Amino acid sequence: MIGRSKSSLNLNASTKTQVERPTRNLQRMRNSITTNSVDTLRTTLKAAPLMKSVRFHGPGDIRVDEIDEPFCRAGEVKIRPAFVGICGSDLHEYMSGPILIPKEPHNITKTKFPVTLGHEFAGTVEEVGDGVTNVSPGQRVVVRPTIYDGCCNSCKLGIEYCCENIGFIGLSGYGGGMAKYMTAPSNHFYPIPDKVSLEAAALIEPLAVSWHAVNVSPFKPGHNVLIVGGGPIGIGILQVLKLQGAKNVMVSEMTESRKRFALEYGATHVLDPSQVDVAEKVREITNGIGADVVYDTAGVEIALNSAIRACRTHGSIVNIAVWQKRPAIHVNDLMYHEIKYEGATLYDEESFRDVIRALSYGQLQPEKMITGKIRLDEVVDKGFKALAGEEREKHCKILVDVQS
Ligand SMILES: NC(=O)c1ccc[n+]([C@@H]2O[C@H](COP(=O)([O-])OP(=O)(O)OC[C@H]3O[C@@H](n4cnc5c(N)ncnc54)[C@H](O)[C@@H]3O)[C@@H](O)[C@H]2O)c1
Ligand SMILES: [Zn+2]
Repeated sequence: MIGRSKSSLNLNASTKTQVERPTRNLQRMRNSITTNSVDTLRTTLKAAPLMKSVRFHGPGDIRVDEIDEPFCRAGEVKIRPAFVGICGSDLHEYMSGPILIPKEPHNITKTKFPVTLGHEFAGTVEEVGDGVTNVSPGQRVVVRPTIYDGCCNSCKLGIEYCCENIGFIGLSGYGGGMAKYMTAPSNHFYPIPDKVSLEAAALIEPLAVSWHAVNVSPFKPGHNVLIVGGGPIGIGILQVLKLQGAKNVMVSEMTESRKRFALEYGATHVLDPSQVDVAEKVREITNGIGADVVYDTAGVEIALNSAIRACRTHGSIVNIAVWQKRPAIHVNDLMYHEIKYEGATLYDEESFRDVIRALSYGQLQPEKMITGKIRLDEVVDKGFKALAGEEREKHCKILVDVQS
């Protein structure tokens, strides 16, 4: 699948695949033609240069395609992505998608798969469209990928990250980070301070998830906390909690490399559920009281039931995990101890900006989380296949070096 040449471009007039972004010439005709006829027209116009792009075509089918370089229109910014993280959602899509990737045209972007992947990324501004003032060519920027409609009930309440039509650059349209170029409306781009590397900036998005989860939780300095799962989100939560003055930060995790990461990032205790009863250990560490707040980043039934036993009376369990299977949980134990079970999703703009600021002050150190760097051409074998197999536990975050 790697390095598919123009044969995967659907230049053939008989193919029906949607071209992700119309070329300049095609754009003029866009109003008068159907999406499927765009490909037919491409064969004669050949207006835009081609670029490499990693696209999702279906479960187990991610290809390095060549597609039209995007055109920067008024109000848009065109960047050269530098580094892109491969995230758990990308993997879910690879293994059993399309999940978040639209099967039908997305309500806002009007795009459906095949789509370019990559929603955790930073890069350099190549061009800005008319009217853009927040960034300028040559500037290094990070992308806040959340796409929202601004008019649903959640958006009207100012909670746009819970938008009823939520979408993501790199999953739902506007291209993605795993391409030589991408364009999107200018409000998705934020300058990054000089001190912050483009590699570290690629981790701003997942760190914002962790930052926001702590923000919406009832955590207070001095609390004892349990983080279930030591993947990138759990390690992010660990960093934020340390920064904000947690007392004991316990991480439950069973894979060796991730247990090590958790200790390196300052977990006071790492509890391996294959070796100890996590709830019992948490109670022992907290003088029999239990954790004030539990953050669940694993999404596994057995671990949640153990977390309920580990949580103190009037404590809280915050779910960040995307569950693959519906769990059977001991709801009565929530009731008897008046434990709150709540969700945390994505991030508001403030959390995104706070993470940028925390990085510039050196308060978060995501570089150590980067356990592999691969080229765009290697993304299927050394990225998705590796992370879908046994390699996964060796890694915290693999970055794709897009321009190499
Ligand atoms: N809410 C959001 O906005 C949001 C955003 C990004 C990711 N997510 C989700 O958050 C979760 C965490 O993301 P991630 O990238 O860190 O995922 P990940 O899969 O890399 O990490 C999960 C960790 O949980 C560990 N684990 C599995 N079973 C366990 C158990 N019984 N006890 C303790 N640990 C166990 C795994 O070994 C793994 O290290 C995923 O479900 C992801 O889809 C949610
Ligand atoms: Zn909305």
